[in-house]
Amino acid sequence: MHFPEYRARRTRRTPILRNMVRETRLSVDDLIYPLFCVEGADVCHPIGSMPGVCQLSIDRLVAEAREVWQLGIPAVILFGIPDRKDALGSAGTSDDGIIPRAVRALKQVLPELIVVTDVCMCEYTDHGHCGVVRGQDVLNDPTLELLSRQAVAHARAGVDIVAPSDMMDGRVAAIRRALDTEGFDQIPIMSYAVKYASAFYGPFREAAESAPQFGDRRSYQMDPANRREALREARLDVHENADFLMVKPAMAYLDILRDLREAFDLPLVAYNVSGEFAMLKAAAQRGWIDHDRVMLELLTAMKRAGADLIITYHAKEAAGLLRQDHSGQEP
Ligand code: PBG
Repeated sequence: MHFPEYRARRTRRTPILRNMVRETRLSVDDLIYPLFCVEGADVCHPIGSMPGVCQLSIDRLVAEAREVWQLGIPAVILFGIPDRKDALGSAGTSDDGIIPRAVRALKQVLPELIVVTDVCMCEYTDHGHCGVVRGQDVLNDPTLELLSRQAVAHARAGVDIVAPSDMMDGRVAAIRRALDTEGFDQIPIMSYAVKYASAFYGPFREAAESAPQFGDRRSYQMDPANRREALREARLDVHENADFLMVKPAMAYLDILRDLREAFDLPLVAYNVSGEFAMLKAAAQRGWIDHDRVMLELLTAMKRAGADLIITYHAKEAAGLLRQDHSGQEP
């Protein structure tokens, strides 16, 4: 293949040709929309750093989920913000906590919508860490019991998939055992297998009111500099029988998505996190970049890197564009 006998531009001549040779397609089927759930009625409290995203009371959450479902988005992931937080995150393990009630409400109205729940302690603890704290330490093994109870509470409420995001060692196995013991052997675990200690989570911590009150998460989340360690983390979760593997954040970690795609055959999820969303919104508000084109380019890049599914605050916007016509992906 040499110029001038071979000319790469031949297959780029028209939109139809380009469409025919396109290697990666973004589809509404790939998207999972995050929702933040608070106590109360008729609450829609906007999050300053995430334009268009709100903390919603259960009634408003159900209305929002109906819209999401009508757009063709197959799944939502829920984050709960309880009224009262304590050192052991007890609001997170209760059968009538905010998330179990939200799950029951959603499944009643939209039985086919896939409801995923984030399983973690940080939204429920007063110190904001993802586990049990002693002094300055986040204790691994005592946290496993609480995460397992939280996952079982979600399962009893009818959740479709649980997604542990705490980064404690051994939590996939512990949750699997607890779910199976309680008769929930059909509930898959979507593991935040490779989760970095990232500054891109800033806006989420405003949304979930989950910023750590002392220190940071570097003793459990991964160092952004590490690549081989990502493969070790994923391998551990595969051995513990995870059903999905997640990489988080997405944009700055496309190499890690590719590494996992090549090493494992499980469905792979990219989490396009809050800080990525906020950066795009801020630049677009100033008119510095084309919001819709950059959004579709980024989501397509995540799929090209190897993701099967993308958790994204852009899901509704992307679904709208993808539905309009095929030019959604033709920049
Ligand atoms: C909870 C959790 C976090 C996110 C998802 N689950 C925050 C964190 O680890 O601090 C971040 C999501 C986002 O930034 O969009 N552990």
